[in-house]
Amino acid sequence: MVSELVTEKKTDPNPKISFRRRSSASERAKEIEAINCIVSGKNVLITGGAAGLGYAFLNHFLKHGVNKIIILDIDSEAGERIALCFEKSCGEKKVHFIHADVSNHKRMTVAFEEASSLLGSIDIVINNAGVLDERRWEKEIAGGMINTAMLAMKYMSRDTGGHGGILVNVSQHADIRNTAQLPVYTATKHAVIGLSESLSDPCHYEKTGVSVITLCPGLTETALTVDSPNKLLSRVMKADFVKSLEQFSIQTPYVVAQGLMTILRTGESGSIWVIENGRAPYEIYVPNPQTLRRHYKNNFSHVDTKVVRGRAIREVCDNSRTGLMSCA
Ligand SMILES: NC(=O)c1ccc[n+]([C@@H]2O[C@H](COP(=O)([O-])OP(=O)(O)OC[C@H]3O[C@@H](n4cnc5c(N)ncnc54)[C@H](O)[C@@H]3O)[C@@H](O)[C@H]2O)c1
Repeated sequence: MVSELVTEKKTDPNPKISFRRRSSASERAKEIEAINCIVSGKNVLITGGAAGLGYAFLNHFLKHGVNKIIILDIDSEAGERIALCFEKSCGEKKVHFIHADVSNHKRMTVAFEEASSLLGSIDIVINNAGVLDERRWEKEIAGGMINTAMLAMKYMSRDTGGHGGILVNVSQHADIRNTAQLPVYTATKHAVIGLSESLSDPCHYEKTGVSVITLCPGLTETALTVDSPNKLLSRVMKADFVKSLEQFSIQTPYVVAQGLMTILRTGESGSIWVIENGRAPYEIYVPNPQTLRRHYKNNFSHVDTKVVRGRAIREVCDNSRTGLMSCA
């Protein structure tokens, strides 16, 4: 029987072969041209641009003809070295460095003011700087993604004097089954998706003209990944963590940066993009909560006999002392 099956498999007249077609040289040239149209002449600010993914983003923006670019980073030594290096190779003040800790709101407010006067206007913000250190999880929560997002909206929004633009918030690959040893880091990265989804709502976009996109990289070869096994809450978790990391193939920051350029070209406001295993970006969505209800024997049964609806929010608020709905 077993041998029959093997023979059958060998002689299958319609074998299912799946392969990905490589894009032709002319397709690639068209893609580069389309990206250049979006990026060329723009002013960009990247947080955490002195290393890892941020540094790869910087290089790709330069490759696609950006006007000016600011890297904002806590690491002043690396930041200044990079700015100096590009000053020599680009021959002009194309790359600027601003030293700031994204979690310090006061400092970030000043840094954005500085960035705005250096650039004239800010067109694209890559909200990338992030911390992975479960031993000091307060630092992960204070991370500064919200600071950057709020200031980016303020400086790019049409209703506050900006010209509109693109804000990219960097989250992480959304599969929480593989982040058991990183509970706080994972929580902050999921918060980033919530932040993006709220800010990208059409009610904001109409006023601000700012597209908000989420980027979810999979495992990528940077200092953050290399150091991560030593940044867990307890050493006991290390073996399990390393074992779970070993299931994945690790991609280079170059691939993620290349993917980001494609996303900038095609991504709509509110879109969420994954780049993993060194492959091209693909889009995911937040599922409709109505479809998430679990049905199993211990769940509360849902009886539809008499529909008792809650009171309307307007009724509740209008009767309150503050009259919350009076402005609507
Ligand atoms: N590397 C990965 O596998 C991976 C996967 C998914 C998501 N990410 C996310 O991508 C982003 C970049 O990560 P990376 O892997 O390039 O990390 P990295 O550690 O290699 O680089 C982070 C950069 O941010 C800077 N930085 C850190 N804290 C800062 C602060 N408070 N203020 C200003 N700058 C600060 C660092 O100095 C560094 O230059 C992070 O948000 C991270 O969570 C990374």
